[in-house]
Amino acid sequence: MSGSVTRFGILTSGGDCPGLNAAIRGVAKAASGMYGMEIVGIINGYRGLIDADTRTLSSGDFSGILTVGGTILGSSREKPFKVREQQPGGLQSDAAKRRSDADLGKDKPELIKKNIEALRLDALVVLGGNGTNTTAHLLAREGVNIIGLPKTIDNDIFGTDVSFGFHSAVDIASEAIDRLHSTANSHNRVMVIELMGHKAGWLALYAGIAGGGDIILIPEIPYTVSALARSLEKRRSEGKKFSIVVVAEGSMSEAEAALPKKERKKNRESMPWPSIGYRVASEIQSATGMETRVTVLGYLQRGGTPGAYDRVLATAFGTTAAEMLSKGIFGRMAAMVGSTITSIPLAEVADKTKTIPPDYPLLATAERVGTSFGN
Ligand code: F6P
Repeated sequence: MSGSVTRFGILTSGGDCPGLNAAIRGVAKAASGMYGMEIVGIINGYRGLIDADTRTLSSGDFSGILTVGGTILGSSREKPFKVREQQPGGLQSDAAKRRSDADLGKDKPELIKKNIEALRLDALVVLGGNGTNTTAHLLAREGVNIIGLPKTIDNDIFGTDVSFGFHSAVDIASEAIDRLHSTANSHNRVMVIELMGHKAGWLALYAGIAGGGDIILIPEIPYTVSALARSLEKRRSEGKKFSIVVVAEGSMSEAEAALPKKERKKNRESMPWPSIGYRVASEIQSATGMETRVTVLGYLQRGGTPGAYDRVLATAFGTTAAEMLSKGIFGRMAAMVGSTITSIPLAEVADKTKTIPPDYPLLATAERVGTSFGN
């Protein structure tokens, strides 16, 4: 595919977040208003491309959605290039075999390219996280004109300083931590709050600092129970009646960090706690005797209206994508680098995760106000 764009498809993929509709609005208003392009909404992420499940968007669809949470297009975690393991041995009925061939991913990329042609799409704009932009890179290699936008509350997309959705989640989590202070104080308790962020601790770091967390656990810095106990007992000896422990869902102990990834996953699944927050609370209570309670903030971090920062960022990313479409710039993801919105090759983003570097300035900032990272 090459040449100018008069009609393109847009999809949202992966975990939703506040700001997705703001980004869709930014792309659509600029593309239609400035460049007269026609916009085809693709339903439920890459799944909609496989099923040719689409809806042409009119101005009524993308006005008034700047502040609306979620995505008007729906989302999925469909990975068209992911080849499922063949079931070992065993006879398969013809129907099951046909289904498994399709499921094996042999047909999905071909189906996508066929549907792009059938839908007369000159290009694609995809809003998503690591997985989405990795798929975008693979489609670009297949000749699809595609542009990525960095979306995730985890902020773990390589190549961009920030993704939209992140600051809204920081606002939500910080407000929740504020509320935990009063109840922890009333009951002289240790409050553990578990935040999202499997592979990287950006959300826990920023919300932990913003919310005045006394201990912040992140995947990048494995913890020990003895270090946790030391921090909490020190606070107690200084007359502090309560403590707030902010835990990223991907945090791990030093012992776990030493395990190979597969074994670490198996080890965690065999534990008697539903998630890391409960385990850390139990470890604290056993080690210190301090009364501890747990809050798992979960999907509240992904829900509702975007904060002002994300409304601006998502609009800026969206209009940048429209400009890239108008200039025929493909195979790249819009990115914030410093204070500039630019774009970087999808090839540089694919299959990577942006974790917190050991010398990241905010780690020292937190330590300077007495925050412990459990190490
Ligand atoms: O990728 C964003 C994210 O919210 C992660 O922080 C979280 O672990 C994951 O998605 C949850 O995935 P799902 O929405 O599929 O349950």
